[in-house]
Amino acid sequence: MSREDASPNGTHLPAPPLGSRLVKILVIGSGAREHALVRCLLRDPGVNAVIAAPGNAGIAADVPVYDVQPTDGAAVAHLAKHLSVDLVIIGPEAPLVAGVADVVRARGIACFGPSAAAAQLEGSKAYAKEVMLAAGVPTARALVCVSSVEVEAGLDELGAPYVVKDDGLAAGKGVVVTQDRSVALAHARACLDAGSLVVLEEYLDGPEVSLFAITDGVNVVPLQPAQDFKRAGDGDTGPNTGGMGAYSPLPWAPADLVEETMRTVLQPTVDEMRTRGAPFAGLLYAGLALTSRGMRVVEFNARFGDPETQVVLARLDSSLADLLMGAATGTLADVPDPVWSADAAVTVVIAAQGYPEAPVTGGVITGLAEADALSGVDVLHAGTRTGTGTGTDSGSDSGTFVASGGRVLSVVGRAATLAGARERAYAGVAHIDLPGSHHRSDIAAGR
Ligand code: AMP
Ligand code: GLY
Repeated sequence: MSREDASPNGTHLPAPPLGSRLVKILVIGSGAREHALVRCLLRDPGVNAVIAAPGNAGIAADVPVYDVQPTDGAAVAHLAKHLSVDLVIIGPEAPLVAGVADVVRARGIACFGPSAAAAQLEGSKAYAKEVMLAAGVPTARALVCVSSVEVEAGLDELGAPYVVKDDGLAAGKGVVVTQDRSVALAHARACLDAGSLVVLEEYLDGPEVSLFAITDGVNVVPLQPAQDFKRAGDGDTGPNTGGMGAYSPLPWAPADLVEETMRTVLQPTVDEMRTRGAPFAGLLYAGLALTSRGMRVVEFNARFGDPETQVVLARLDSSLADLLMGAATGTLADVPDPVWSADAAVTVVIAAQGYPEAPVTGGVITGLAEADALSGVDVLHAGTRTGTGTGTDSGSDSGTFVASGGRVLSVVGRAATLAGARERAYAGVAHIDLPGSHHRSDIAAGR
């Protein structure tokens, strides 16, 4: 896809100033978040080449892809060196926690993503709590437990609703929120049996907001707030998922939300990490709850959120590469503040049958090109591959797109209003068919 083609919404940035440097970028990961990063970079006049690894079928239709395991630091660094890229962007958390950014930097290549030490903000909930306590960041009261006896005492101390978390990375499956003490205890025991610590938390009420900030370890630049929909079903019913949709901006959010989060959460956390000798450079994702007693951090992540990135980047009208390069090279102070479109963006995730418990893969997806061609609609791929599918209507040629994961697609709509963006996203969804698939019909409804 050419840079012109890559712009989903007809927003073309001005040409780069004469003599400015064009960069070549390698994006690591294979979800719709990475597809959004790739498309945003393709419409960035400061970028002259984008490559991805391992990508997915949709990413491969836009840019060259290489089959590299994201958690294999030596392989990622080797590919980056071989391609002579100027910057590596690491999308998912697992490679960050595994230290892939450290390996890439050790080869002398700029990398957007925190060190393994700093990624512990996401990799260990107990560590994140310790940092928040030291930095005075508002968050739920928590107890770290190493045994069932401690868990039982902790549950009684904190009371219902019970919030029980696996300390480590659990791909969205580590948290149980329940009124049922036996369910809470069973989850805690399963975590302990698997060798993890258990973090019990005070229950936080109120709406949740995701706020991302780009940082070079000293300077912090907030992006725009977004909200995601974690439950599988309409009306926030059903099991927790990786995220079924998102929208931005948040018309109902307090006007000083970004400023307050910068002052009480983002800057103090970045400062605390630097003081500890684990400077955090990359994307700091604050999951916030706006409770009746004020704003609290629910969790930190050490990377772009999925699907919020799809809507946040749809609204970015200035260079993403400049921000990420500034963060990766300690020069964020020299990068102009991001410019945001007044437009709204909504994304709806299309998930495979059985997601999140047992996704059915192999279904043939149709209608993608028609949806992507709609004005104000961008079809981003997550779990897709090309090839032959299963079932009676299996495709047989390599141009056929087939579901290969739980979250299959993230359809983004953009328009002047949230209602308009929502209409665009669902117009895109209506063109797409994947047998047995499901999506929420209430993303950004009534906002
Ligand atoms: P986490 O993986 O920590 O983001 O948790 C996943 C989801 O569980 C969050 O988005 C919340 O919806 C819910 N959750 C986590 N911690 C709490 C809490 N202390 N109180 C209420 N809900 C929570
Ligand atoms: N949207 C939730 C996450 O990225 O973890």
